[in-house]
Amino acid sequence: MRIVLLGAPGAGKGTQCKHIVAGYGLLHLSSGDILRRERRAASDLGRKAQSYMDAGQLVPDELIVAMVMNELKVSDGSGFLLDGFPRTLGQAKELDRALHEAGTSVAVVLNLEVDDDKLEDRITGRRSCPACGGAYHVLFNPPRTQGKCDKGCGELTQRPDDTSAVVRERIKTYHEQTAPLVAYYQQQGNAKCADGNRQIEQVTKALFELLDAVPQNA
Ligand code: AP5
Repeated sequence: MRIVLLGAPGAGKGTQCKHIVAGYGLLHLSSGDILRRERRAASDLGRKAQSYMDAGQLVPDELIVAMVMNELKVSDGSGFLLDGFPRTLGQAKELDRALHEAGTSVAVVLNLEVDDDKLEDRITGRRSCPACGGAYHVLFNPPRTQGKCDKGCGELTQRPDDTSAVVRERIKTYHEQTAPLVAYYQQQGNAKCADGNRQIEQVTKALFELLDAVPQNA
C-alpha cells in the first residue's frame, strides 16, 4: 500500500504512523524526522533547513523533494507511508510524477482532521525520547515517571519548534500551503478523511477501517 498521511502540526501523524507501521508493515518516511536527522548530523541540508524549521516555515521544495525521493525507492514496487510529505502542491506534483514514471501512484491519502484550538496544546505538551524515539504528551499520553522514558532510556526532551509562538506560525503555514492538498487529492478520488479530535486509540481504529477498505490492487 502506498499511503500519504496529511494533517496539521500536532494532528497526530507521527503517533498514528507508529500504529499503521506496526499493523501494515510499511516503510515509514517522515520528512520532519529526516530533516531533524540531517540537523543532528550538521549536514549541508540540515544547516540550510534549520532557520526555516525554527521559524515554523516550510523548507523550500527544491531541498525537500530531492531529500525524500532519495529515501523513497519508488521503483521497487514496495509500499510506503509518507508522513509530512508532500506539503505543497509542487511537492505533490513531483511525487505524482516520480510514481507515474515508476508505473504506480498513491493508493490512498488519509487526512487527519483536528480543530485548530486543540493543536497548540498537543504540540506544546509533546515530549520525546532522543534515544528510542518514544513519543509522549504530558497530559494525553504521559510517561509513567514524569520527564522519563518508560523504556528506561533517560530524560525526555522537547522539540525546539514546539513553542507556542512557532506552533502558531506552523499552523498558519499549514492552512496556507498544505491544506489545499486535500482538494488536490479529492479531485484524484483517493482522499479519505478521519476525525482526529478523538482519543488516540479511536483515531487508530478509524484509520485502520479506512485502510482495510482500500482494494488490494489499489
Ligand atoms: P514535522 O516534523 O513534520 O512536524 P509537523 O507536521 O508540524 O507535525 P508534528 O510532528 O508537530 O505533529 P504530528 O501530526 O506528527 O503529531 P504527533 O503525532 O507528534 O515538520 C517539522 C518542520 O520540518 C516543519 O515545520 C517544516 O519546517 C519542516 N518540514 C517537514 N516536512 C516538510 C516538507 N514536506 N516540506 C517543507 N518543510 C518540511 O502528536 C503531537 C502530540 O499530540 C503528541 O504529544 C501526541 O502524544 C499527542 N497526540 C497525538 N494524537 C493525539 C490525540 N488523538 N489526542 C490527544 N493527544 C494526541
